[in-house]
Amino acid sequence: MSLVCFPFKEEDVSVVVRNIECAASHPSIAGVLCVGFSKGETWHAIESAKSAIEQSTGKSVILLQQRRIGTSLRGGKGDGMNTALVYFLDNTEYHRLHFYDADIVSFSASWISKAEKQADLDYDVVRHYFPRSSTDAMITWLVTKIGFALLWPNSILPAIEQPLGGELLVSRKAAEILIADQRVRDQSDWGIDTLYTFVMAQAGLRMAEVYVPEGKVHALYGGLQDLRTMLVECFAAIQSLRNEVIVTESRYRIENPRPVPEAVKQKIGYNIEKTLKLLKSNWSPRQKELLQEYFDPALANGMLHAIEWPCWSFADEEAWISAYQKFLDHFEKGDFDWEELLFKIWVARVLNHTMKNVIRGYDAALGALRDLIWETQHNAAIQLKASSEAPASNSAHAIASGHTATEGLSNGHQSGKSLKNANWSNIGAACTVQH
Ligand code: DGY
Repeated sequence: MSLVCFPFKEEDVSVVVRNIECAASHPSIAGVLCVGFSKGETWHAIESAKSAIEQSTGKSVILLQQRRIGTSLRGGKGDGMNTALVYFLDNTEYHRLHFYDADIVSFSASWISKAEKQADLDYDVVRHYFPRSSTDAMITWLVTKIGFALLWPNSILPAIEQPLGGELLVSRKAAEILIADQRVRDQSDWGIDTLYTFVMAQAGLRMAEVYVPEGKVHALYGGLQDLRTMLVECFAAIQSLRNEVIVTESRYRIENPRPVPEAVKQKIGYNIEKTLKLLKSNWSPRQKELLQEYFDPALANGMLHAIEWPCWSFADEEAWISAYQKFLDHFEKGDFDWEELLFKIWVARVLNHTMKNVIRGYDAALGALRDLIWETQHNAAIQLKASSEAPASNSAHAIASGHTATEGLSNGHQSGKSLKNANWSNIGAACTVQH
């Protein structure tokens, strides 16, 4: 029998209570663990509904406040999920642990059944994936999947559909591996999904992805401003892993997707008008200096023009890959100017994607995102291959000279070329460290 965990903050109470009831009624579920960020309105609503749900379903509903497990980063989603892992490992009557966001309006028993059915085939991890709007998932596509493709192109990581997804099942073995890992325990913020996904791949766990055709209907955001903290924390999580190596192979299986519902295709993921203002806000003289010191002149000039008038054509795919590599090398989390630059350049890239790709329709937009990951992964893998075939002295130089993987990843200044012609020459130096 399994345990379902709903981490929560302040949510629509009726949705949360309905989801707890739905999970507790499932025949494979013996308990529902609700991990609260704080004891607010949602906490009290769950507390009031708890005994009625326990009586009607005969299952336990456990209400826990999240513990402070990581100590160096902000206490957030990571502490919540890790609190659930610890509870699950201490309570050995449960064999599997499911996580679901508490605010999913479209949550149903089939989400649990699908994951259980895959886990019966001895997968250590079963992740849910679902259709998303072509303007949603911009951190997933542009930060996490790009980072995985650049840094570990030959691993399963770039193929994972929704590496930041909060809907997943883990076996006891997977939970033990995760919680034993200091990097996971430390990652108390939004970076937790990146850490879980990375550590699962690095440990060679057996992973499956199941498709939820109805999609995840939940509270979306207003302007991209609402995603700033998540963006910074997800990027910093990738950056913290940049010198890690993956040597094991994971067994990986994915269920085919189905046609995307019209409602998802039509949905605009963020408020464009509110977002345009972000390009001109919060500039400091130091941000302009950093921009000019580290980034491609075409991107730097474009960002400076955008202060005067909203523009984004300069923030194309190639410019983003080049900038991403600079951020891997130089970004400093906690430094306001670096965080603002990351945020503003990402905003420009999202606007560019919206106005160039999304405008051509859902399929064209998703196609462009998939092509970007595929090209990035391919080019990084080619460089890795070339560096492994290069004379030993070259590889030795990269290591002996003290280059980190990300120092080597930096692209030269370039602009106006297609991604296919981008300069990947330094990736090889980085990748040599992996051998
Ligand atoms: C993502 O990028 O996946 C975040 O959830 C924002 O949509």
